[in-house]
Amino acid sequence: MAKLLQIAIDGPASAGKSTIAKLVAHNLNYVYCDTGAMYRSVTWAAIQKDIPLDNELELEKVLDDITIKFVPSEDGQQVFVNNQEVTKEIRMPKISNNVSTVAAQVAVRKYLTDLQQKIASAGGIVMDGRDIGTTVLPDADIKIFMVASVKERALRRYKENISKGIDTPLAILEQEIEKRDYKDSTRSISPLVKAEDAIKLDTTNLTIEQVIVKIMKIIEKKA
Ligand code: DC
Repeated sequence: MAKLLQIAIDGPASAGKSTIAKLVAHNLNYVYCDTGAMYRSVTWAAIQKDIPLDNELELEKVLDDITIKFVPSEDGQQVFVNNQEVTKEIRMPKISNNVSTVAAQVAVRKYLTDLQQKIASAGGIVMDGRDIGTTVLPDADIKIFMVASVKERALRRYKENISKGIDTPLAILEQEIEKRDYKDSTRSISPLVKAEDAIKLDTTNLTIEQVIVKIMKIIEKKA
């Protein structure tokens, strides 16, 4: 039987990671794990409790009784936090604009990194995020670092938002993406950075199908 691989896909916001990771997982019959949704879930739970999002001690209390569940659904995955469905809510601007603060807290990163390592331990997984190849799965079989220009990423997020009924102007999305890139890349713990052994893939001028073909070739070579 073929070895069940660990595949890490990292990169900045809206570079196409989750769309691609989902399709790769589907092609291989692997589990897909969206680690960004986990950071968003903790942010959602903290906002619900109305605690300061940079207060590590208070965040630890949130982590003490949080359960995050992913349930496969027709259009991807539903996310449940403490048994409440939050799939759409965790994509709202209120969460997107605050998640970097929560994701910069050591206690939160430690808690979610442990959880992600457990989920990936048996292999057969495609995990996307910012620090999968560097911190969560440093020995992953395949590491992809996906990038695209800010303009292209804002445009993709704009189209995705419109399809979900969220109408944020393109210029605002560009600003938000730049701000989030900066925060994610400059935080002291597990910043967004390409792992030395990751393969860089610029998707600015590629279709989803073209990216999938490239990644499947990389996987076939490895297998
Ligand atoms: O991929 P996303 O936009 O849903 O991620 C939401 C936020 O979570 C993003 O600002 C960075 C953070 N994140 C992280 O710090 N580490 C990860 N492995 C995944 C996401």
